[in-house]
Amino acid sequence: MTTLTITATAPAQAAGDALVLPLHPKASTITVAAPGLTRGQTEKIVNAARALGASGTSGEVTKIAHVSGIKAGLVVTVGLGDATKSADAEAVRRAYGNAVRALTGKRRISVVLPEDNWAAAMVGARLANYAFTAFKSAPKKENSPVQTITFLCADRVSAEQRSLVHEVAVIGDAVDLARDLVNTPPNALPPATLAREAKAAVAAAPVKVTIWDEKALQRDGCGGILAVGQGSANPPRLVKLEYAPRGASKHLAIVGKGITFDTGGISIKPAANMDEMKGDMAGAAAVIAAMQAIAALRLPVRVTGWVPSAENMPSGTAQRPGDVFSTYDGTTVEVLNTDAEGRLILADALGMAVEEKPDLIIDAATLTGAQRIALGSRTAGVMSNTDDARTQVCEAADAAGEAMWPMPLPEDLRSSLDSATADIANIGDRMGGMLSAGVFLKEFIPPGQPWVHLDIAGPAFNDKAAYGYTPKGGTGAAVRTFVEVASRLANSR
Ligand code: BES
Ligand code: MN
Ligand code: ZN
Repeated sequence: MTTLTITATAPAQAAGDALVLPLHPKASTITVAAPGLTRGQTEKIVNAARALGASGTSGEVTKIAHVSGIKAGLVVTVGLGDATKSADAEAVRRAYGNAVRALTGKRRISVVLPEDNWAAAMVGARLANYAFTAFKSAPKKENSPVQTITFLCADRVSAEQRSLVHEVAVIGDAVDLARDLVNTPPNALPPATLAREAKAAVAAAPVKVTIWDEKALQRDGCGGILAVGQGSANPPRLVKLEYAPRGASKHLAIVGKGITFDTGGISIKPAANMDEMKGDMAGAAAVIAAMQAIAALRLPVRVTGWVPSAENMPSGTAQRPGDVFSTYDGTTVEVLNTDAEGRLILADALGMAVEEKPDLIIDAATLTGAQRIALGSRTAGVMSNTDDARTQVCEAADAAGEAMWPMPLPEDLRSSLDSATADIANIGDRMGGMLSAGVFLKEFIPPGQPWVHLDIAGPAFNDKAAYGYTPKGGTGAAVRTFVEVASRLANSR
């Protein structure tokens, strides 16, 4: 857990192990933009940074030890690029993220905020401060995240700044929760445990939690969740999280794919990198984390979270290619590939979510490898049955700092999902596989019900080195977008 505070202390006097300062290129030199530093102090820092080759370009981090007159033992400059050009919030998030990632092992750091985009700087600094060490017997101290981040501001701390620090702290804790759930080994997080974690995540907030076990799923006709779960010794679950503050006029439903491990089932996956399929519940993690943040922030909007969860295993009880089952809404589905399992559990949850006729339904799912082929590892695909809803979610994602891009749901792909035996098959055209998965999901949305599908297969899991404020492993993708959409709905009429 990271403690975030804000104070109106002069940078030179700030306590702590390190002081982070914004740096800009200026004419043929550089300049430190930190109100409260004397000219002499600024000069010393600029000279030292120059000697170390700092140029102030966006994202550059330079460490300077022992600047006389500065209380913190280490000064860290963070390049923000040309101060006269209109700043890009995401570049500021990443730059501050780089600075904080360079400070692991420190206990307390002070961070001077830039004049513009101070909110983005807070977010980047906070989100970068993460490590997953729950399963290390002796975590290395030099890799441990910073305990306390103190933001410094020029004069008085404004009420706006104070409430923003609170918001960033709540969202930061939620993003970390989603990352933890994704990073947790699959043997430690079967569906029943994920359901328990969902309940625990919102225990401190006014959120009602309902959990369906396999008997209740049977009773209610959740054929998709049961079909995927039947091959595992760890039975499936469905969790509903209801946050309904008095007076809320809008209703948002969020649905997250919760496959706690995806072997592919009988249509088994190749061995390489299969361990990454522990992250196949990242959509569920985003829903759980967003519910926690939305309720903690007491956003005046009704939000219902749905988490269908199963473990996709091959076994003597596993579903077979060729099996037919019925979803919650009575649609019959022929399973032609057991590795296209996410859409099967989502079919039931979407079927339940639409019964409440929310103003908007958004699902998030690590649904297809095709998403990564189409958009790469960092950009989510955004599909919808209405242009308005898709645009609304893309704009919220952009404001929140999550890379998401609009994608179509071409009508012509529907026939590729035709089944000789049932109403629909679970695989369609491999070309545009992200889109055919989206077209499958659309089958469960009645006309007139606004719905957006986020394929986060790539962005949910960073299999490369950490960058900016994104750690290795679970990233917490979609959490900030969910919270941003909820907050925009809360402020709309
Ligand atoms: N969980 C996978 C998708 C995935 C792949 C997520 C790689 C993250 C990284 C999903 O269940 C899956 O296996 N999809 C299949 C669908 C196919 C059988 C139609 C795929 O993409 O290959
Ligand atoms: Mn699969
Ligand atoms: Zn999957």
